[in-house]
Amino acid sequence: MTRTVIRGGLVVTAAEELNADVLIEDERIVALAAAGSSAAEWTADRVIDATGMYVIPGGVDAHTHMELPFGGTFASDTFETGTRAAAWGGTTTIVDFAVQSVGASLREGLDAWHAKAEGNCAIDYGFHMILADVNDASLKEMDLLVGEGVTSFKLFMAYPGVFYSDDGRILRAMQRGADNGGLIMMHAENGIAIDVLVEQALAAGRTDPRYHGEVRRELLEAEATHRAIKLAQVAGSPLYVVHVSAASAVAEIAGARDAGLPVFGETCPQYLFLSTDNLAEPGFEGAKYVCSTPLRPREHQAELWKGLRTNDLQVVSTDHCPFCFVGQKELGRGDFSKIPNGLPGVENRMDLLHQAVVDGHLTRRRWIEIACATPARMFGLYPKKGTVAPGADADIVVYDPNAVQTISAETHHMNVDYSAYEGRRITGKVRTVLSRGTVVIDGDNYLGRAGHGRYQPRATCQYLDR
Ligand code: URP
Ligand code: ZN
Ligand code: ZN
Repeated sequence: MTRTVIRGGLVVTAAEELNADVLIEDERIVALAAAGSSAAEWTADRVIDATGMYVIPGGVDAHTHMELPFGGTFASDTFETGTRAAAWGGTTTIVDFAVQSVGASLREGLDAWHAKAEGNCAIDYGFHMILADVNDASLKEMDLLVGEGVTSFKLFMAYPGVFYSDDGRILRAMQRGADNGGLIMMHAENGIAIDVLVEQALAAGRTDPRYHGEVRRELLEAEATHRAIKLAQVAGSPLYVVHVSAASAVAEIAGARDAGLPVFGETCPQYLFLSTDNLAEPGFEGAKYVCSTPLRPREHQAELWKGLRTNDLQVVSTDHCPFCFVGQKELGRGDFSKIPNGLPGVENRMDLLHQAVVDGHLTRRRWIEIACATPARMFGLYPKKGTVAPGADADIVVYDPNAVQTISAETHHMNVDYSAYEGRRITGKVRTVLSRGTVVIDGDNYLGRAGHGRYQPRATCQYLDR
């Protein structure tokens, strides 16, 4: 047995902050004790000095797309490169999206994603399932997947001809989720209407990346969010709305929650820190910021921060879906609709959100709540993941709140040739990362390995009495 003690830090969880030492035996946390108390007698094989540091749970990023096939190419991070980058950024669990192809079973899709991930991950991982073909067989398979720990299903109101489901299919999947405990995650944008606007924009010669943001109108996010909430209400199902970017969509979610409905909302760092100004950068630079839902005008950011403070939004995930500028984003030169959708960010989330603490948008505990504890609870991983407590996995980050760093593609570890946050100065930096008791990041050294990360079967959403 290996005993590790983390001494002298400020332990920050979603619930409390305390000066405490943390005792780890092998993969688990076994005790916390106030500094100078019984902890002084703990013997250990390894002592990590956390004086002046925060000791926080490893981040839980509940929305990533490693190797996602999209727009005729693949997201550029593999499970190996993407999970290693996540570890560098203080994230110790990801929940990635396995994809059902049209005409194929959920089983085929899930098996394919297991094959991509197994033996390759630096940190622990779980799966959601993208339902691209809702039919009698795939509805039945949902029950089996819930039993295997794949307890959440993403549906798309966008991307007709690719992932899109019509309202009838959505309703049927929601009814099934209401029965089997699966949480429906919704990409809420009216894709049928958006495609009309895309066609009209291209016909009028509006081909630059900024038109991606213009045709994917805020109203069409709000409308789809509203419709998804109503469909969930009809089905008697809870709903988790992914990558919320528009203030009016936040208002729809807030309204539903005020009415007592089990509706949850997620936003992402790109919507909190970037805007349509980035999409309008000169030349083809705006392509770096093409994702869906799209970046919105700056004014929306205040509403997203407010939503996070008031708990109308509960989770910040990255929607990490990187495509290199050269050779991938470039597929859309002369036609913004051919730019692969997605941004890199799995390495940056914990730091950007710490910057939000420094800037006064969030408290320290709320930082941990939205980035670690709530995603763990939402997706059935708590308290194994998402907290620092006896019995939890020793997924721990020793975080230096005073170190200053500058985000850059020159120094990041994601397999992508640009950073969406290039040149941004951040106060705060990951110093040490433990994944199930193993030190995987130690200062500037990566000590992890592909295959250390284990598949995590998940319970159903822990915010619902079912
Ligand atoms: O632009 C995005 N978000 N790409 C990834 C796929 C999705 O819709 O989440
Ligand atoms: Zn989506
Ligand atoms: Zn996504």
